[in-house]
Amino acid sequence: MSAPTRTDTDDEDVDGDGDVDDRGDVDADASSATTGGSVDGLRAARPADVAAARGDRDRPPRADEAPLVGKLPQLARDPDEYYRELGAGYDADAVAYSVNRTEAVMLTHPEYVQAVLVEEASAFRKGEVLSRAFDGFAPNGLVASEGEQWARDRKLLQPAFYRERVETYADAMVGEAERTADEWADADVVRVDADARNLTLRIIARTMFGTDLSGKGAIIGEAAEAILARTSPQNLSSFLPVWVPTPSNRRFVATMREFRDVMSELVAERRASDEDGDDLLSILADAEYDDGTSMDRDVVKDHLVTFVFAGHETTALLLTWTLWELARNPDAQATLHSELDGALGSPGTPAAGESATPDAVRDLQYLDAVVDESLRLHPPAYNTFREATRDVEVGPWTIPAGTTVTIPQLVVHRDDRWYDDPLAFDPDRWTSAMRDALPEYAHYPFGGGPRSCIGNRFATLEAKLALATVLSRFEVEPVTESVEYQYSATLQPDRPVELRFRER
Ligand code: HEM
Repeated sequence: MSAPTRTDTDDEDVDGDGDVDDRGDVDADASSATTGGSVDGLRAARPADVAAARGDRDRPPRADEAPLVGKLPQLARDPDEYYRELGAGYDADAVAYSVNRTEAVMLTHPEYVQAVLVEEASAFRKGEVLSRAFDGFAPNGLVASEGEQWARDRKLLQPAFYRERVETYADAMVGEAERTADEWADADVVRVDADARNLTLRIIARTMFGTDLSGKGAIIGEAAEAILARTSPQNLSSFLPVWVPTPSNRRFVATMREFRDVMSELVAERRASDEDGDDLLSILADAEYDDGTSMDRDVVKDHLVTFVFAGHETTALLLTWTLWELARNPDAQATLHSELDGALGSPGTPAAGESATPDAVRDLQYLDAVVDESLRLHPPAYNTFREATRDVEVGPWTIPAGTTVTIPQLVVHRDDRWYDDPLAFDPDRWTSAMRDALPEYAHYPFGGGPRSCIGNRFATLEAKLALATVLSRFEVEPVTESVEYQYSATLQPDRPVELRFRER
């Protein structure tokens, strides 16, 4: 595994005129001369050539824009392939490009990922891409907020995610997983993507909001549906600001308003009750900042809606992709079955039917490997965006203020420098030697640094408990023959994923 290095010709200022504009753009002739003006040309170009032609040593090599403009539809359809082509030929692990006149840099080395998320985190904010995505739906929630407001709210909400606290949610997680397993026992074919989403939504409703999805809680499901539709690339309205009065935008705004009103009622009920929980709703109901002010109603709504969105869809995808891969990889499934039988009892033995608990799943190394491998190959959050707030050094490169930075999990997790046969689903690769040798940010499904996923422990425990509950009982077989990605806000299957569950 090699560390990132600049090529030795980087230091040459070939044309020596220093004639580079503010952003360090290459003039068109020099650029096309070195890249050849085609995707193949892009592959052939070396970073040193490009940097030399630009007379600029420190800026990441720039992809020729001409072929990329023509490939914009592909960015929407298949970002994985797009980013691969963008990066192909650049052994610099950094490439500059622009989309819709936004200057961007893609970084694909784990050390650069770590620099952006951790070491130089203060030089970045979430920025344009995120604020556009969350505009009109949860601009003040934890995923999209910035600066002081983010820091003080993150501190306030953190206790709902302490390890001890998360483990108290285990009964609800297992109870809901058992209910799903009972439904699957009676079904011939299961639509696992839809059922996994329903399962994780019920778990969020119970653990974070202290309610179920009936009565007032029904709005949680409606809000989840509305957000999913809003963030789907198939919905044309998702490209328009939320205030443009299309029918679907109007429905979306109405659903969000109703969600806010119902949540205000739930918060008021919680305030009036003696219940002294420290789930999310209780924390928000009691929230008071150091200066004695309390949280605005819309900010409370933004937090809650963020947790509905961030807290269920991602984990549902983790469950879906994992069950899909296990169904197609009977050897991996058999290994997991025998590990689960050791922990929870084999079917037909007196211990069989033990419910999964945090203690029982804590040291299951193969289950850990299955989850890590699934998050590697099919990362539900498949790209991470930042915007540089000042000129910042990342490895050998200077990223100019205002640049959008993308650090795509989907690309870094499939790099054959870190993973042999990277497109194969192979939990056995996760040996302790491999874990020791892996660069820390070659696997970052939950991000990293101050803005890392607050729900990391919650999601991991939930997935492990649900998988243990279901797979200690069933063998799973594929029904759907193949699945492609649909690149939405998260990495979704492009069609219903149908599996068959047989009692063991
Ligand atoms: C497999 C499941 C999950 C994955 C893959 C995932 C992934 C991520 C990633 C990559 C980030 C960082 C985004 C960035 O740096 O821009 C993030 C942030 C976040 N996630 Fe998750 N997440 C998962 C589950 C959850 C759950 C269960 C919750 C809540 C119950 C949650 C709540 C959040 C929140 C609130 C943030 C924003 C944190 C902040 O900026 O302070 N996530 N998640």
